[in-house]
Formats: sequence, C-alpha cells, structure tokens
Amino acid sequence: MTVLEQVRPLDVVADFPAIPEGWAYLDTAATAQKPRPVLDAIGRAYGETYATVHRGVYQRSADMTLAYEAARRACARLVGAAGADEIVFVRGATEAINLVAQSWGGTHLRAGDRILLSRLEHHSNIVPWQLLRERTGVEIDVCPLTEDGCIDLDAAERMLTPAHKLVALSHVSNVLGSVLDVARAVELAHDVGAKLLVDGCQAVPRLPVDVTALGCDFYVFSGHKLYGPTGIGCLWARADLLEAMPPWQGGGSMIDRVTFERTTWAPPPTRFEAGTPHIVGALGLHAAIDYVEAIGLDRIHAHEAALVAQARDALGSLNSVRLFGPEVSAGIVSFAVEGVHPHDVGTILDEGRVAIRAGHHCAQPLMETLGVPATARASFGVYNGPGDVDRLVDGIERVRRIFG
Ligand SMILES: Cc1ncc(COP(=O)(O)O)c(C=O)c1O
Repeated sequence: MTVLEQVRPLDVVADFPAIPEGWAYLDTAATAQKPRPVLDAIGRAYGETYATVHRGVYQRSADMTLAYEAARRACARLVGAAGADEIVFVRGATEAINLVAQSWGGTHLRAGDRILLSRLEHHSNIVPWQLLRERTGVEIDVCPLTEDGCIDLDAAERMLTPAHKLVALSHVSNVLGSVLDVARAVELAHDVGAKLLVDGCQAVPRLPVDVTALGCDFYVFSGHKLYGPTGIGCLWARADLLEAMPPWQGGGSMIDRVTFERTTWAPPPTRFEAGTPHIVGALGLHAAIDYVEAIGLDRIHAHEAALVAQARDALGSLNSVRLFGPEVSAGIVSFAVEGVHPHDVGTILDEGRVAIRAGHHCAQPLMETLGVPATARASFGVYNGPGDVDRLVDGIERVRRIFG
C-alpha cells in the first residue's frame, strides 16, 4: 500500500465552520480550529445554562457546578489520571508550568539543586524555570538532541545526577514533531530521585496519553490545541504532589477559612484555582475531549502520521527543500526552502490559500541548534487530508519558481 492510499481523510471537515472549502489550514500546532459541538457547548454555556459555580444556592448554579466538575472528570479520563482531584484547571500549558515552578519548585528546590531541560523546549518550558533560578539559585542543564531532532535520552542519562530534582521535557516537539519516550524519561529521572514534568501541549491532541501508566509526575496541556477554547488548560499532578504544594495565587474559592490573622487552604485541586474560574472554557474543553475521543486518538495519530509521511516524501523529493526532525513524527513537519526566508514561503503559500506558520515557534534555542533563524512549519489536524499536502507541495513549487 502506498503512503497516499493509507491517508484517508477522517471526513470531519464539515464539522468546522472556520475551514471554508479550498483553504488548507496547516497551523494546528499553533491552535486548532473548533468543531461545531465545541461551539455549541460554548454557546449553551454562555446562553441558556449560564451561572457561576461552587457558590450558588440556586439550581442553575448547582447544575453548572456539576457540569464544571464533569469537565474535570473528562480531563482526568483523557490523560489517564487516577482521579479528577488530580486535575487543576489553568489558562493553558504556560500557566500550568508557571504554577509548578512557583509552587512546587519554590517549595522543594533550593540553591545547588539542578533542573534538566532539553534544547527543543518551547519558551514556556524554559522561562518559568529561569524565573525560578533567579528566585532560588537552582541550576539549569540542557539535554542535547540526536542528529534527527529527538531529545537524546542517552545523553540525559549521562548528565543526570542526584542533584537533579526535576526533569522537564516536551512529549511532542512543537517544531519537529519528535516524540519523547516518556517511559524511559521517567525511569531516568526517578533513578536519580528527580520528578518528571511532561509538556503535553502537542501530544494530547495527537496521541493517546496515560499518565498513570507512564508514571510521570506532572503533565500539562492547553485546551485550544485540542480543538477546545482558548484560556483553559490542565495541570495534572499526582495527588500526593498536589497535596504537598502551597497555593500560588490567593483569592476566593481556594480557601478553607479566612481571618485577618490566618488563612487555611482548600484541598487540591481548588487550592490552585483562585477566583471565578473559566467555567465556559471548561465546558467547551469537555466537548472537545468528547469530540476527539469519539474519533479516537489512535486513529488521529495514525491519520496525522500518514499525512506527515506524505508531506516528508513529497517535500523531500524537491532538491531545494531541507526537512528538519525525524522521519516519523506526530503531525508536525518543519522545513526550509533554500535561499528563501520562511516568512516569504508563508506569504506565498497564503496567496494559494495554504496557511502555515513561519518563525521561531517560541523555540529560539532550538533554532540556534538547527542553525537557522526560523523554519516554515506545516502541522496537521483531524480536518486535513492528502489534498492539503498536495496544495502545500504545489505552493512550495511556486515559491521555487518565484525565487528562481
Ligand atoms: C510544546 C508547547 N508547549 C507549550 C506551549 C504553550 O501553550 P499555551 O500558549 O497554550 O500556554 C505550546 C504552544 O505553542 C507548545 O507548542
């Protein structure tokens, strides 16, 4: 069977009003388009069922509280958490990592302790640790990549020492699509007594995840990359870790009892959700989770892997195109066209109604490693099919003609 024969559209494009006929949207790694069930859930939540959560004594608020907590259970189910109390709602992966850095890191790490990151991390898995370094004096080490752009776990094994208290790595690179062997990363981190935080922003929309089976300690993701709304995401952490973490923001909801002399905290996860939460975001995310689960994450993964194979095959046969990253990746392909700035590639593709991302993708240290200021990136979602890859390749041929 050829690669092309394997790539069958999932036939869901009609669910996405933001994808008009003839527009190839290849920027799902930045943010995914929203299917109708998510838009409907958001409309209903702000419309006929709207009320606050956790406080109201009236029926509407009690119903909304049930819906909000059902969304938490859906998140727990999606990532294989042992229970819904291991799920903290946050604004997104960025906020989740900042929460762990400030609360867990601020409490458990001190000068002389070390954190291991990798060269392919998104800025949101670099900068929060640098802020923590300024506060506490922890040291940051950076794990190199293999030739083909995967996190080099053999190198990590050589670098890790008992001084390492945390390893924080991307499950799927937002630039290269490379997939981390999380189970091995867990083993290496735990062997030296470190915790493992996994940035699952690009993994959760693309492959089945089971944090309990993987054995990691923290896992984070954003709703908007999973076909859900912006402004909502999850921190998953093992219950015993959350229990031992102090709040990172103060306000309503996160307390047990407040007096001017002393305030006590609510148990997790509400301890970490100060203020009125993004109620509607949580309900929209629940609809998104139901949506991807109905398609099946195994199917989504296979579908996107086939699109990546088709794209790498076709782009790789053009001799002025340089492909980055491993042969097998999760839904994301980065490339460069010799002598053409990725922004020009993106602009010319846009004229042909193909939307890609061009830039450093919030991964400047990775750009430095690749020796380029930027890449062009095509990333796939459930609505893409082989025709979108053909249009991408046609567009690149046009770029080559224009630039001679
Ligand atoms: C791998 C990775 N981590 C973290 C983030 C940050 O996500 P957000 O901006 O939704 O917080 C992104 C977003 O592009 C990402 O791709």
